[in-house]
Amino acid sequence: MTARTFPPGFLWGAATAAYQIEGAADEDGRAPSIWDTYSHTPGRTLNGDTGDVAADHYHRWAEDLGHLTELGLGGYRFSISWPRVFPGGKRNTAGVDFYSRLVDGLLERGIRPVATLYHWDLPQELEDAGGWPVRDTALRFQDYAADIVGALGDRVDTWTTFNEPWCSAYLGYGSGVHAPGRTEPAAALAAVHHLNLAHGLAGRVVRELAPRARLSVTLNLHVIRPASDSAADADAVRRIDALANRAFLGPLLDGAYPADLLADTAPVSDWSFVRDGDERTAAVPLDVLGVNYYSTTLVRTWDGVSPRSDADGHGRSAHSPWIGAGDVDFLPQPGPHTAMGWNIDPSGMTELLLRLRDEYPHLPLMITENGAAFADEVAPDGAVHDDRRVDYLRRHVDAVGAAIDQGADVRGYFVWSLLDNFEWAWGYDRRFGIIRVDYDTQVRTWKDSAHWYRELVAGNALPD
Ligand code: FCB
Repeated sequence: MTARTFPPGFLWGAATAAYQIEGAADEDGRAPSIWDTYSHTPGRTLNGDTGDVAADHYHRWAEDLGHLTELGLGGYRFSISWPRVFPGGKRNTAGVDFYSRLVDGLLERGIRPVATLYHWDLPQELEDAGGWPVRDTALRFQDYAADIVGALGDRVDTWTTFNEPWCSAYLGYGSGVHAPGRTEPAAALAAVHHLNLAHGLAGRVVRELAPRARLSVTLNLHVIRPASDSAADADAVRRIDALANRAFLGPLLDGAYPADLLADTAPVSDWSFVRDGDERTAAVPLDVLGVNYYSTTLVRTWDGVSPRSDADGHGRSAHSPWIGAGDVDFLPQPGPHTAMGWNIDPSGMTELLLRLRDEYPHLPLMITENGAAFADEVAPDGAVHDDRRVDYLRRHVDAVGAAIDQGADVRGYFVWSLLDNFEWAWGYDRRFGIIRVDYDTQVRTWKDSAHWYRELVAGNALPD
């Protein structure tokens, strides 16, 4: 592989999310979120794992900041727990103080804080009132945003409204493999819209209260390929692209839902929850678009006869997250695969970034997540020789560089994840960290990938 360098000022970072690392689930006035309820419901998560303790970051945050410094990172992407800082629609000072200390700690170390307002942990009381399918939840999100952005302001470098609203809507309310575990197709589409609306409402709050901060949203855009060059398979790609990608890109960046999405889903919903002006509200101008990339998607139009695969990589359920696309099948893809069963294909990273370059040429991009779970083994000397993770990261970072060479305006890269953590329905079984967490002792150990990443960051170039 040829030596690959990155533009001066390229932002290298690591990412985490509140429920996945913090623990301290009922400390200092935190209220339950939908993930507390879901993970405590028997059968919902692997081994019944919950985020009650997680990586105990709430108590070990100072140590964890030390790891960021030693890695030499320029940015840290974390999320703020809504039920910790704004339970019952009122400020919880102890919760806000936690993030205030974290942000100040980052600034003292010269690390740019990249804060996500919502990484899936809706306060349970708002789910009880209807959750994201209900419009009022978007207004409650605006209230929460006003309070926390008012408190932290532009000490935060980049405010990200949502992480992967696709997952919140379709996995939370469609297939039910994520909290709150509902399987209501029409409600999932209403959730899509209220998440988009909430993004616009909160985005305007950020603009007003933190005028020097940058505004972003993070999407898990799908790289969708057809199983054949038939017209039917091309149409499968179009339909999944509408649900997965353009349901968000449309309102957020172009100010309108795509007509084919509304037509495809008409048997399920008339979208009457979209009110005049909502799409304009959703399209608040962004400074940077966050891109999460892990693998690719392969689809065909099902012939109604042959066995289906439904291998979309998003967890097994009797209910599809692909609302109104029951005749689209998702095919397994050639390996190698990660421990999530996701195929490893760095070319998809380049492809995605070039699509965004073409469609939104003036919008800066940031890789806000990329990484891999593998069944790590601890060597007798305590080291973790995670060669496959190093290889995964090396090839994907190289793919980002290839896109930059071809004109994609990518400003940074955040590895998922700083630490092993609670991988949602997969609990603690799937480890994504470049730093290992021993969940019995909470001891952190750098894996080989952390050492490799430090070298990459120090040189702003792929190590040999
Ligand atoms: C993304 C999530 C993140 C983590 C990775 C593996 O979908 O944003 O929290 O679970 O996948």
